[in-house]
Amino acid sequence: MSVSQTGSEAPAQQRGGPMASETKAPYAAIQAYWNEHIHDLAIATHEIGTLEFFEELDEYRFDKLRYLPKLVDFSAYRGQRLLELGCGVGIDLVHFARGGAQVLGVDLAQRSIELGQENFRLRNLEGAFAVMNGEALDLPDEGFDVVYAHGVVQYTANPARMIEEIHRVLKPGGTAIIMVYNRRSWLRLMSVVMRVSLEHENAPFLRTFSSREFRSLLKPFRSVRMIPERFPVATRLHKGLKAVLYNKLFVGAFNVLPRPLVRWSGWHLMAFAEK
Ligand SMILES: C[S@@+](CC[C@H](N)C(=O)[O-])C[C@H]1O[C@@H](n2cnc3c(N)ncnc32)[C@H](O)[C@@H]1O
Repeated sequence: MSVSQTGSEAPAQQRGGPMASETKAPYAAIQAYWNEHIHDLAIATHEIGTLEFFEELDEYRFDKLRYLPKLVDFSAYRGQRLLELGCGVGIDLVHFARGGAQVLGVDLAQRSIELGQENFRLRNLEGAFAVMNGEALDLPDEGFDVVYAHGVVQYTANPARMIEEIHRVLKPGGTAIIMVYNRRSWLRLMSVVMRVSLEHENAPFLRTFSSREFRSLLKPFRSVRMIPERFPVATRLHKGLKAVLYNKLFVGAFNVLPRPLVRWSGWHLMAFAEK
C-alpha cells in the first residue's frame, strides 16, 4: 500500500482490491457524484481550497451538528491509529489530528482527498490520505484502534460489505464510530410534509435505516451502543417562506420539547461499536 502523506508530492491513487474482479460501475458512479457534490459545498462563500473555505465548512458543520463534539471526544485518541472512512475534505479528521491521533483519511472521491490534503497542509497538521473504496480497503487486518465513518455507509452500494471492512481493519478491542440516517426521523417527515428534498437525495445510493436494521448490520461487533441524535437547527440551505416557517416556528417549537420524548426521532443514528 502507498498512502500519500500531507505535503508530500505523491498523488493520491485509486486502489484495486477485491472489487477489481467485480463490476466497477456503481463505484464509478459514487465517485463521479461525490467529486461534483462535495458535502456542504452549497453553503461555502469562500474560494474552494482556501483556509477561509475550510474554516467556514468547519463552523457550519459544528453549528449544524451540535451533538457531535458532545458524543465524540476528538481528543480521546492521542497516539492511537485512526482511520476515517469517507473523510470528505477532512473537517472532522482535523479535530482528531489536533487531538493527537495518527490519522488516515480515505474516500472514493479524488477531489475530496486532494482538498483534505490541502486542509491539513494549511493547518500544518500531520495526516495521510488515499483514494480508496471503503468496501475493499487496501489496508491490512487489525491495523487501527478506531474507525470513524460519519455519513458514509448510507451512500455506498453495499453497506454490509463496508461494515465488514471496518470490522476487518479494526484491532480486537477497537472502536467503530458510525453514523447513518434514521428512517423514523423528524427530518424525513419534514421533507415529505414541506416537499423539500433531503441533501444528496440524488446521490447514486442513499439509504435510511431503522435502529433494528442498523443493529443487524453491526452484528460482526461484540457490543454496540446506539444513540439517535441531530435535532433541528436553523437552516442556511433554504430561503423564502418555507425557510422562515422552519427557522422561526418549527426549530423553536421542536427544541422546547423534552429530549426523552423526541430522542427516537433523531436524524442521525450514531453507533459506537466495539470489536
Ligand atoms: C455525505 S459525505 C460525508 C463526508 C464526511 N464524512 C462528512 O461527514 O462530512 C459522504 C462521503 O462518503 C464517500 N463515500 C461514499 N461511498 C464510499 C465508498 N464506497 N468508499 C469510500 N468513500 C465513500 C463519498 O465520496 C463522500 O465523500
